[in-house]
Amino acid sequence: MHSPFDLSKPIAIGSDHAGYDHKESLISFLEGKGIPFKDFGTHTKDSVDYPDFAHPVAEAVESGGYSFGILLCGTANGVAITANKHQNIRAAICWGEEIASLVRRHNDANIICIPARFVSEPLAEKMLQIFMYTEFEGGRHSSRVNKIACAV
Ligand code: RB5
Repeated sequence: MHSPFDLSKPIAIGSDHAGYDHKESLISFLEGKGIPFKDFGTHTKDSVDYPDFAHPVAEAVESGGYSFGILLCGTANGVAITANKHQNIRAAICWGEEIASLVRRHNDANIICIPARFVSEPLAEKMLQIFMYTEFEGGRHSSRVNKIACAV
């Protein structure tokens, strides 16, 4: 299946403690498919601060050395708010298959943010697959996306 992302580059993935189990589940899925990734942590279920993982994943995606990003926390809001502080990041919270498609088609999202306390692991995996293989539609959405970043 064709992906709009360059999957020869690793996916950057990270979570806090609330997203840890879902992160490990998504990592198993990526390993099973032979898709490269880098795990930015957290590496245990001990309580941590989500910005310590969201910033490195956002920086990795912004650097161009990674295909896209995956972030997880309890609600996905903490990681999304943090990642979206980065100028060229469009981090989108997804809680259903159609949203995962729309954030790619309309918003050209480059990080999928998953609320681990509110979606099942199978749904998280399904949303990741949809996100990974859905193209940005461009057209009228391009002018909107081009207005998102603040002037520097
Ligand atoms: C952790 O308890 C929780 O606050 C965090 O995972 C996230 O939901 C914050 O937005």
